[in-house]
Amino acid sequence: MGLLEERLSLYGEMVDRAIISYLPDDNCLQQHVMQAMKYSITAGGKRIRPVLVLEFCRQCGGDPQAALAFASALEMVHTYSLIHDDLPCMDNDDMRRGRPSCHIQFGEANALLAGDGLLTLAFETLAKADKQVVGTENIVKAVSILSQAAGVLGMIGGQVIDLESEGKKTDLAHITQMYSLKTGALLKAGTQLGCLAGNGSEEQMSLAGTYAEKIGLAFQIVDDILDVVSSAEILGKPIGSDEENEKSTFVTLMGLAQAQGEVEKLSREAKDILDEWGTSDTFLYELTDMLAHRQK
Ligand code: IPE
Ligand code: IPE
Ligand code: MG
Ligand code: MG
Ligand code: MG
Repeated sequence: MGLLEERLSLYGEMVDRAIISYLPDDNCLQQHVMQAMKYSITAGGKRIRPVLVLEFCRQCGGDPQAALAFASALEMVHTYSLIHDDLPCMDNDDMRRGRPSCHIQFGEANALLAGDGLLTLAFETLAKADKQVVGTENIVKAVSILSQAAGVLGMIGGQVIDLESEGKKTDLAHITQMYSLKTGALLKAGTQLGCLAGNGSEEQMSLAGTYAEKIGLAFQIVDDILDVVSSAEILGKPIGSDEENEKSTFVTLMGLAQAQGEVEKLSREAKDILDEWGTSDTFLYELTDMLAHRQK
């Protein structure tokens, strides 16, 4: 195993264990909704956002262990966004992370509430970060960063623009803004939460943020490409969903080849930022390339 695979697997195991530990005990009357929360968050996502949290903490000289509460909270918000994204009133997708979507398995009302449950649990989890190591002030800053990234000026805002744009002609500027909100905001929050957990400097926060804006945009463009060229077996979610919902994407606007060209350009720019950062090893460079060329 190379450096990339080794660290991804280490971080993945740390995050999976931490998330389980933050889930409430389901020995109670509301166990059905708790099972739905657990079902979706343990279904095997790529954990890219938590990986960013742990790695940027490490890059700032912190112990990734100290960033686990922040990383888990972010993955909870992300998983909630996926549960709601799949609902019939949104993208209406029946499969997620290789399993029936939450609303298929547990019904719409439980899926709605499981999403709400994960969103609220995320903030409870942030508050559980180690005050001695991370610092109370940084925990308060983390609440501000995550709430803004998830909110109407962040992910939710991007989802609204996405839905309102269905079936309409849009241009690149419009789509770019939509992507930076619906997808970029949470990836950026990952780097910011990592810097906070590692007590990084203002300059590190800023560079990490710019890096995330580049890979965030690239990440959604790759998601759009995979929706056209991949298969449900590999992706673990339906393909052709964007076309079915008449979404405007980088692919519909500029075609597959040019969209992949944009991904390459953004990844180069992201790696230029890493040059400025001066990373201690090649992990983030390898991660950037992996995300640009991922198959799922
Ligand atoms: C899917 O995110 C939704 C987008 C923002 C494109 P991921 O591709 O990170 O999904 P998981 O977490 O691996 O399931
Ligand atoms: C989703 O974009 C972004 C979210 C905030 C969930 P998509 O709708 O393209 O994500 P997938 O393809 O369903 O994972
Ligand atoms: Mg969507
Ligand atoms: Mg979707
Ligand atoms: Mg998609």
